Amino acid sequence: MPLTIRPLTPSGFAGEVSDIDLTQPLTRDQVAAIDDGMDQYGVLIFHGQRFTDETQLAFSRNFGELEVSSGAEMSKARDRRLARMEMADISNLDRDGKLRAASDRMRLTALGNRLWHSDASFRAVPAKYSLLSARVVPGTGGNTEFADMRSAYDALDEDMKADIEDLVTEHSNAFSREQIGFLKVDYGAENQDKLTPVRHRLARFDPRTGRKTLYLSAHIGGIVGWPVPEARMLIRDLTEHAVQRRFVYAHVWSPWDLVIWDNRATMHRARRYNDLSDVRDLRRTTIRGDGVTVAQIQRAA
Ligand code: OGA
Ligand code: MN
Repeated sequence: MPLTIRPLTPSGFAGEVSDIDLTQPLTRDQVAAIDDGMDQYGVLIFHGQRFTDETQLAFSRNFGELEVSSGAEMSKARDRRLARMEMADISNLDRDGKLRAASDRMRLTALGNRLWHSDASFRAVPAKYSLLSARVVPGTGGNTEFADMRSAYDALDEDMKADIEDLVTEHSNAFSREQIGFLKVDYGAENQDKLTPVRHRLARFDPRTGRKTLYLSAHIGGIVGWPVPEARMLIRDLTEHAVQRRFVYAHVWSPWDLVIWDNRATMHRARRYNDLSDVRDLRRTTIRGDGVTVAQIQRAA
C-alpha cells in the first residue's frame, strides 16, 4: 500500500504519514516515498512505531551514513546511558535510569536544545535528517517546535535576500552554549578541537526542490568579514523573522511517535517540561549531510 501523507499546517509544512511500519525492512520504493515526502514537507510524523535501538538504527541507515552523537562524543563513557555512539540520548535519565539532578552537567548541556537550532550545524558537513523516536513522554510540556526555513526565506524582502546572498556564517557548539552561560573551558581540554568554528552559507540552495533556505542555528557566532556584534544582530533579526508562528509546527509527543526533520530546511527547539520529576526519553539518530555548504551551487543552472 502506498503511504499516505496528510499536511499538518495550512502552508503544507509538516506531514503526518500513515500506512507504514518502519520497524520492518522497507522496500526501495518506500524509502524513496519517504525521501520525496521529506523534500515536500520538511518534517514527517509517524505514529505507533515501536522501535528498539537496533531497529531505529537499521531504519535510519536507509537514508545515508549515521553521525556519531556529539553529546556521546563529548561525554565520558561513565556518563552515557545508551550503548551506541550513533544514538543521541535525548532524555533526562542517567545510566541507572534515574532522573538527572538539577546540577547534573549533562542535564544543563541538554538545555541548549531549547534554543532554535539545526542539528550538527557545527560540523563541516552538517546533518541531513534527524530521526527522533519517543519512548517515554512527560505528562505536560516537552513539545518540539519546527520552523520552516524555506518559507522563512521566501518571505524575506528582496533587499534582504540580496544582502545575505553571499554571506558565510561561523558555527560552533561553543557559541550556542555560550548563550546559556557555558564557557569554552567547561568542555574540557579533550574537546577543544571539536569547538573550532566551521563555515556555512547563510542562504542555501536545495537542488532537489529548487528552493532556497535560510540556514540559521543557535550555533552561529559570526559572519565571515563582519564585526561580531553586527553579525550577531543580523542573525538575531533573521531568527526572529524565521520563527514567527506562521512558519512553525509544534509537535505534541505520544509514545512511539517518530519524527523526521530535514536540518537543511528547518530549525527546531525543545520546549520546557518538568524534567526534575517527569521522565522524557527520546532517542535520536542523525544522517550525515552530502557535503560542505560553502561551495554549493547557489542557483539552478
Ligand atoms: C534533538 C532536539 C528537541 C527535543 O533531538 O536534536 O533538539 O524536543 N530535540 O527534545
Ligand atoms: Mn536538535
